[in-house]
Amino acid sequence: MKGIILHGGHGTRLRPLTHTGPKQLLPIANKPMSQYALEDLKTAGITEIGIIIGDVYPEKVKEYYGDGSEFGVNITYIYQDAPKGISHAIKLCKDFIGNDKFIVYLGDNVLRKNLVDYTKKFETSDSDAMILLCEVDEPQRFGVAELDSNNPGKIKTIIEKPKEPPSNLAVIGIYFLTPKIFDIIDNLKPSWRGELEITDALFSLMSQGNKIDYDAVTGWWKDTGTPEDIIHANKLVLDSVGTENQFLIDSDDTINDKVVTGKNTTISRDSHIQGPVIIGKNCHIGPSVRIGPYVSVGDNSNLKDCTVENSIIMKDCTVNAKIHLSNSIISHGSTIEHSDGTHELLLGERSKIKL
Ligand code: DAU
Repeated sequence: MKGIILHGGHGTRLRPLTHTGPKQLLPIANKPMSQYALEDLKTAGITEIGIIIGDVYPEKVKEYYGDGSEFGVNITYIYQDAPKGISHAIKLCKDFIGNDKFIVYLGDNVLRKNLVDYTKKFETSDSDAMILLCEVDEPQRFGVAELDSNNPGKIKTIIEKPKEPPSNLAVIGIYFLTPKIFDIIDNLKPSWRGELEITDALFSLMSQGNKIDYDAVTGWWKDTGTPEDIIHANKLVLDSVGTENQFLIDSDDTINDKVVTGKNTTISRDSHIQGPVIIGKNCHIGPSVRIGPYVSVGDNSNLKDCTVENSIIMKDCTVNAKIHLSNSIISHGSTIEHSDGTHELLLGERSKIKL
């Protein structure tokens, strides 16, 4: 089997964080979110991986993943000129896929359970596609499936972001497919949002008498479309620290009381870290810092005098001020310093700040 990771799109809902890179490279617990997809595919035994890159800093994706050898996989990059839909992206992979079965993984989806069991099930089945369903509170934000109450195990409809959802079962962004989907996509029409939808392709595949299986997601699943989703995903991933199937894998890290600390990081004696927390390499924490719970601090960041909870501070940041940061995302290379009374701000487009 082969794998495809979708790394295109514009990430508009995540601006200003996505002004300088694709959203799928934003870190969750100090790891780009698309790396969770890549590692899931690799754990399921899939090492031939195609990455769809778009027009938002595609060179940054290539620079990070290279030819894949550092991650134990083989990567082929496939260029999509504009985000014309998930089905459009899949269509571009026809030559790469050949006659194999394959998994499409949206690079902004993170899943608690790995894909090993689902992959085995699909590999050994005669299904033409398999989707994963997850109960959600706001189904209108997702593709939604309705099960056939007269036919146990069968799907009745699949529909994209319905205003009046027929169920609360979201179709998550991990699709198990066969090359049959390519002919279906060739006959698709763009949706109201101008995209070739994956849900339309699946529904059409099903309507033409092909067999589509489904399975239920156990554990959590997160689509990281908004800043709030990213902070929540960070919390969910950090909650895995200390469990058997934890996501944090750098062999140089030390882990104590659900606090992961990278090499050459120093923490002053008067600072207090309450896990789950991850602090990267070469960071200086202190004096008088309180961190946690649910905080990620990227490599080479220095924190003094501050309190930080439920937040992401990326690489190369400085926070040197008596402030309390909560539910915040601070991008690479940012500085927050103390000033006497007045605030001096240099904010990127569409920044958000509450004082
Ligand atoms: O997350 C699950 C949902 O993902 C499904 O429930 C929906 O059925 C499916 O359409 C999709 O909905 P979104 O609106 O969340 O998709 P989004 O536009 O955010 O794109 C998902 C990922 O695919 C994202 O990482 C960007 C990438 N992408 C998207 C498009 C449209 C591409 O690489 N190329 C594209 O043309």
